Amino acid sequence: MRAPFSVVIITGASSGLGASLAKAYAAPRVALGLQGRDRRRLQATALACEAKGATVNTAIIDVTDAPAMASWLREFDDRHPVDLLIANAGTSAGPDPDSPSEGTETAARQVGVNLLGAINTVEPLLPALCARGRGRIAAVASIAAYRGLPYSPGYCASKAGLRAYAEALRPRLERHRIGVTVVCPGFFDSPMTDRFDGPTPFLLSSDGAARIVKRGIDRGRRRVAFPRPLVLGLQFCDIAPAFIGDAILRRYRFQIHSA
Ligand SMILES: NC(=O)c1ccc[n+]([C@@H]2O[C@H](COP(=O)([O-])OP(=O)(O)OC[C@H]3O[C@@H](n4cnc5c(N)ncnc54)[C@H](OP(=O)(O)O)[C@@H]3O)[C@@H](O)[C@H]2O)c1
Repeated sequence: MRAPFSVVIITGASSGLGASLAKAYAAPRVALGLQGRDRRRLQATALACEAKGATVNTAIIDVTDAPAMASWLREFDDRHPVDLLIANAGTSAGPDPDSPSEGTETAARQVGVNLLGAINTVEPLLPALCARGRGRIAAVASIAAYRGLPYSPGYCASKAGLRAYAEALRPRLERHRIGVTVVCPGFFDSPMTDRFDGPTPFLLSSDGAARIVKRGIDRGRRRVAFPRPLVLGLQFCDIAPAFIGDAILRRYRFQIHSA
């Protein structure tokens, strides 16, 4: 089957879900713009995508560097008009079990990368996408966007913010024929999950998660949230009286170790 998108940008393509998505979209006559910070791992993704016939442009940029992101995105788009933009780069952390919180620096770093970094990825291309009147944006949030979890306050705040940002854009961009997919995955295996200490129910492989995400994006879904039991559980915690949600989530012992 011909790929529904022929020019795809993916941030955080040097690892985990981003690398799996890059390989899933790689095909002949597809141009990929792949961003990350680790040159060696990003190059490994690029080589795997080229082996599948894709043309690849890589960029070593921190997503929090707004001017550098804008200039790479616009230069790439001038050469290859983008039809799919996936804001996937992300980081996670959390408090030590005995600390009341994770501290300003850790929380701010996650908001900086996960929320502001995604905004730095999306905003520079909006004028060009809207002028062409076609394309799709996918924002990789998390099921943590549905309800604050006691083991990761800054992460949950960043992902809830990203979900809200992308859902706010969606009706605005509809009139320009730009679709927006909000992706809210549960656990999948990646270097990020290697730092998780606690139960990871319904854990998928990163390739398995990428298949679900790609299918949802390709079908034009507005929201791709999985696995269903975790999504429903967190939605319940959100709509139930707050003391019930708090009591359920307090029982879930979990720690995210530092990178
Ligand atoms: N793993 C899970 O269970 C899970 C669940 C729900 C949602 N998510 C979300 O899914 C996305 C992918 O996660 P993953 O598990 O694949 O994580 P991962 O393996 O740790 O990969 C994260 C990617 O983001 C990039 N990145 C991190 N900070 C960056 C920065 N400041 N500037 C530029 N790039 C940066 C990393 O690049 P370098 O390595 O090159 O620095 C890497 O390519 C993230 O948004 C994450 O929050 C993950």
